Amino acid sequence: MAMDSQIEPRVFISCREIETVVCRLAARINEDYRGRKPILVAVLKGAFIFLADLIRHLDLQAEVEFVSLSSYGQSRGTSGKVEVVQGLCADIRGRDVLIVEDIVDTGLTTNFLLNYLKKQKPSSVKICSLTSKPSRRKLPVNIDYLGFEVPDKFIVGYGLDWDGKFRHLPDLCFIKEE
Ligand code: IMP
Repeated sequence: MAMDSQIEPRVFISCREIETVVCRLAARINEDYRGRKPILVAVLKGAFIFLADLIRHLDLQAEVEFVSLSSYGQSRGTSGKVEVVQGLCADIRGRDVLIVEDIVDTGLTTNFLLNYLKKQKPSSVKICSLTSKPSRRKLPVNIDYLGFEVPDKFIVGYGLDWDGKFRHLPDLCFIKEE
């Protein structure tokens, strides 16, 4: 990987487009969960900005939980091994759970999280992901609420990072190595 100074993020989905799509997703979630009190389980760290925007468009008594999972480390490749770094604090038994993800790439992390959550006997689990890279899938994932399908390129911004950097960018960007 090139040095930071040689990495130039290029916008491919603007913050305006993201806002429109987040509103649309929230409208569908409001409709589907009307009268219910879902627990949103956001996957750290990448989903924090998406969660913050999404929840402000929800007209529901939603609760929030965070989980931290390790999978990618600092490289572009995935080890294929997922571990819980920080698990749930809340009791989700009998509750409606909505996973909030930044990206579904190989699908390994989401499958692991689904199994982890299902063991705790929620009454339902659905998945909301800002982005998905279907061409990279190793395990199938049924994404109930999807923002954008993205090509097989590394993306940063709007919470997504490369090696801890670029999360602050308001748009979704490709990183181009010069
Ligand atoms: P998985 O391959 O679906 O298990 O995804 C594992 C994790 O890798 C995701 O939750 C992201 O944190 C990270 N990831 C995968 N693709 C990208 C990307 O293009 N940009 C930033 N992070 C990514």
